[in-house]
Amino acid sequence: EKGGYEHFMLKEMYEQPKAITDTFSPRLKNGDIVIDELGMSDGDIREIRKIMIVACGSAYHTGVTGKYVFEGLARIPVEVDLASEFRYRDPILDEGTLVVVISQSGETADSLAALREAKARGRRVLGIVNVVGSSIAREADNVMYTWAGPEIAVATTKAYSCQLIALYLLAMKFAKVRGMISESELEEMITELKKIPAQVEMLLNNKDRIQKFANRYLAAKNIFFIGRGIDYAISLEGSLKLKEISYIHSEAYAAGELKHGTISLIEDGTLVTALVTQEELYKKTISNIVEVKTRGAFVMAVTNTGNTDVEKAADYVVYIPKTNKYFANSLAIIPLQLFGYYVSVGRGCDVDKPRNLAKSVTVE
Ligand code: F6R
Repeated sequence: EKGGYEHFMLKEMYEQPKAITDTFSPRLKNGDIVIDELGMSDGDIREIRKIMIVACGSAYHTGVTGKYVFEGLARIPVEVDLASEFRYRDPILDEGTLVVVISQSGETADSLAALREAKARGRRVLGIVNVVGSSIAREADNVMYTWAGPEIAVATTKAYSCQLIALYLLAMKFAKVRGMISESELEEMITELKKIPAQVEMLLNNKDRIQKFANRYLAAKNIFFIGRGIDYAISLEGSLKLKEISYIHSEAYAAGELKHGTISLIEDGTLVTALVTQEELYKKTISNIVEVKTRGAFVMAVTNTGNTDVEKAADYVVYIPKTNKYFANSLAIIPLQLFGYYVSVGRGCDVDKPRNLAKSVTVE
């Protein structure tokens, strides 16, 4: 059942190119993005005044990425909240707010309760869900399925990657309908989107190099992930992937926030993983790399091919192919998934079933 792979997690990581393709292909038609299941006319899309994204865990992390993508591309204000917070905070949901609930299982108790809360307040809820016919899929006004197929490993990989794709498609569609991007810009983005599966495949095939590197950190006490903008969102997920399956303490920080406290935790040899995929932020993040290196950190950077400035500052560099800036998460997460996986394997942890965790969290 693991198809020759040692763990479901590795198998599912390798299923990502296909899962990503399956998620975008049915929605690309004649150079346009068609999401019939959205149930929204172009007029409805133009009337959206705010998007409220609600989810838990990794799905929340895709929501954080979604905020940057929707705001950057479609210029729609986005708020992202954890479902367990949203449901109890008497949220303000004005007319014109589209609520998006993201969930792999479609059964997460807090996410389902958040959906019900939004519906009770008369708002339209769009579910981005993987499990067909699940509670969130049934109760949402509209469902956009991620076609990742069954995910067994507790640590999500392919469903996460498909959630990102669903968010890109939505943001591109909204941007186009609202006149924020031109026909040719959309065309260019679609061309880049279609390249993602092969790029992911290539990054997965780099696994031996990541494993070798991971083996150097099996006894680490603390590992940090830093980045700005979308790179911060990637950091959140990279950190969760590592800590949930390896039990090594890890934190994700917005790179500029580090000096407001956390930098005191950096010691000689502490591993800091820096995400540097957003060109307009290169210089700012590189200065944070220099800051932590001055305090003794060892820096692994994930950056775009050709960004040689990072090579001068960091100790170890993993390159990802150049893509549209809004899609960088889909590529940069691959080495981080592999890193978490191999640290967990190297430490002899139960990779697919980490202690204390359940695949579907149906209790609050
Ligand atoms: C982490 C992970 C969890 C889930 C979270 C939400 O690898 O899998 O953080 O993302 O429990 O689950 P779903 O998406 O089923 O609502």
